[in-house]
Amino acid sequence: MPVVDKCPHQNMNEIAAILKNQGTGRDACVKVLQEIQGIFGYLPAAALQYVTDHSQITKRQIYGVATFYERFRFKPLGRHHVQVCRGTACHVRGAPMIIDAVAEELHLHGVEDTTEDGEFTFEKIACFGACALAPVTVTDGQTRGAMTADKMRKLLKKIASQAKTAHATDQPCPRSTMPTN
Ligand code: FES
Repeated sequence: MPVVDKCPHQNMNEIAAILKNQGTGRDACVKVLQEIQGIFGYLPAAALQYVTDHSQITKRQIYGVATFYERFRFKPLGRHHVQVCRGTACHVRGAPMIIDAVAEELHLHGVEDTTEDGEFTFEKIACFGACALAPVTVTDGQTRGAMTADKMRKLLKKIASQAKTAHATDQPCPRSTMPTN
């Protein structure tokens, strides 16, 4: 069984097991992608190559499905996951300013959602279901209400400075970049 990535977690045995469970027909595409993303947190190119080499699922079909459903991603999540609500209650209480502050602070442009250094992934959420706390953000699983753009900038600066020290010797690996909560 070929191991097509240096990361030990990207052993293709896991992909082979998914194909065995879900089948190798074209109709298994969505479930196969869901399971791959469940393992790695994204869809690694090597895993997708393995799928196309060992099933009837084509690259074209994969990219069609993966780009249709927003939840699929082709890049690993950053080490820190920053989520800002863009729902109505949060919107009227200043969420757009928080969203702008995060994008500016992390130097993210257009559809980019992850910083170049893989430190942060930024996501806008439709509603956390905590509208009474608006505007709401969740950073690495921690919910904060009554957020402001200023507080968000300070929080991101603090995380970035801690991360510089803590992750200075990290090896790139999809699982090590996934949030633990
Ligand atoms: S609208 Fe933001 S938590 Fe509901």
